[in-house]
Amino acid sequence: MTTSADSVFVARSDGISAEGVRDQYADGKAAKVWEIFIGDKNSRTDNYKNFLIELLREKGCKRILDVACGTGVDSIMLLEEGFEVVSVDASDKMLKYALKERWNRRQEAAFDNWVIEEANWLTLYDDIKDQIKEGFDAVICLGNSFAHLMDGHGDQREHKQAIQNFEKCLRPGGVLLIDHRNYDNILETGATPAKSIYYNTSHTADIKTSVLFYCGKPSLISMDYLIEANKLTSEFRLSYYPHELKRFQEILAEIFTSHAKHKLFGDFKEMSQTKNPAFYIHLIEKTLV
Ligand SMILES: C[S@@+](CC[C@H](N)C(=O)[O-])C[C@H]1O[C@@H](n2cnc3c(N)ncnc32)[C@H](O)[C@@H]1O
Repeated sequence: MTTSADSVFVARSDGISAEGVRDQYADGKAAKVWEIFIGDKNSRTDNYKNFLIELLREKGCKRILDVACGTGVDSIMLLEEGFEVVSVDASDKMLKYALKERWNRRQEAAFDNWVIEEANWLTLYDDIKDQIKEGFDAVICLGNSFAHLMDGHGDQREHKQAIQNFEKCLRPGGVLLIDHRNYDNILETGATPAKSIYYNTSHTADIKTSVLFYCGKPSLISMDYLIEANKLTSEFRLSYYPHELKRFQEILAEIFTSHAKHKLFGDFKEMSQTKNPAFYIHLIEKTLV
């Protein structure tokens, strides 16, 4: 039996990437607005920037794989901070902006050495085999990206396959940093907080949220974004799988083993310092062999 939620409630862009996963960014609308919405690429919130850089340094990470680089915002920040970065994404429309930035800054050694590849999480290990070497120190999948991957069979096999690929790209002792919105809260309230915890954007965004149930289970959340930027109003729809916290933690433990060190953060803070965060961020360490 297949869950057909994603084919009933389709994204407005129905582009299909080579590996058969729908590229929701294929019409280029979100990519274009993303660039305007997030403004200049240095405008990450201090909270987020400090959290990410400090955490990666504390864990001794040097070589990072950004598996949802999009237009390149996180990767660029990491390159500027002296990390070595390999960036991948399934959407060429999003990658186009990252490639453009790499070209514009090619005189800087870090940017000249920046590897950008088109890859899909379901085939990631094979897609970038040559880049893995002895394994990355960290794999990052941030900005509510992972939730784009749907559950085509109702047993989350795609989610497990993708996380397995992330794990295979890490060296023993390496870390996966992966986030998702607080879908438990979205399912409870039916609303998505529009304030960005990632970007210092001056542009307004409104997010209209719809939840689709399949066989009595929430199986797809659709977010209609209305973004007003530079007198330009843009609308686009993105769809997400509503990862509930408990289940997500179980899947991580299944792939990384139950002994793996796993730490949960809320909006880049210790869980003890936050109540009902907009985002959960998981840090999980690949066990040493
Ligand atoms: C919300 S954007 C976030 C980009 C970036 N991390 C940021 O914070 O700006 C999500 C990205 O995930 C990518 N993505 C979604 N599903 C993917 C998959 N199966 N494999 C690789 N990338 C995927 C999309 O193409 C998109 O660029």
